[in-house]
Amino acid sequence: MGKVYVFDHPLIQHKVSLMRKTDTNVKEFRELAKEVATLMGFEATRDLPLKEVEIETPMCKAKVHMLEGEDIAIGPILRAGLGFVDGMLALVPNAKVGHVGLYRDPETHEPVEYYCKLPVDIEKRKIFVVDPMLATGGSAVAAIDFIKQRGGKDIVFMCLIAAPEGLKVLEEAHPDIDIYIASLDERLNENAYILPGLGDAGDRLYGTK
Ligand code: PRP
Ligand code: URA
Repeated sequence: MGKVYVFDHPLIQHKVSLMRKTDTNVKEFRELAKEVATLMGFEATRDLPLKEVEIETPMCKAKVHMLEGEDIAIGPILRAGLGFVDGMLALVPNAKVGHVGLYRDPETHEPVEYYCKLPVDIEKRKIFVVDPMLATGGSAVAAIDFIKQRGGKDIVFMCLIAAPEGLKVLEEAHPDIDIYIASLDERLNENAYILPGLGDAGDRLYGTK
């Protein structure tokens, strides 16, 4: 059974609050997204397995711990999930990146797939699916469906802001995954946008509105 982690770290809260502000510009928004991704990623990688290895320090031989494998993938949901990739790669520079292209139909709010390209050995990797927003949950559920259909097994979902409605949908659809959230907001509005939220994450990252 997966767990839900809502971050209470003051640095994460502060940076997400800056991202919410209307007058935070595109450059600042991008930089903040990268910083928050690194801070969240630091905690979300806490359970990566270690192995004991023997090394030589300048002083003596020593048994130390190192990562057991580097079998990690980052799975950004396009477009806005791309804003998380560099911040995660700062922690795990050898991770492979698999892109899942989805957009929400503006009328139905249902996710529409337009691209999916994952590492060939996805079934062996721990996959960090990243997207700033979990609103209705449709996009996250569909992205994780695609990844599972292509063999992905060990999956974690990370987002900046979640609505309780979307969190419930994701937990019900994929009860096996851990979910990391920087802020659990109040609710969705009538257009399925998160309140108070930060607006449209893709537009804010890429300046398209
Ligand atoms: C946003 C966001 C999520 C999705 C969340 O993407 O980045 O992928 O909406 O909404 P949901 O939980 O209701 O599915 P959007 O569809 O606006 O596409 P974009 O990233 O290309 O702007
Ligand atoms: N997608 C966004 O970018 N923002 C929301 O509030 C909801 C969906």
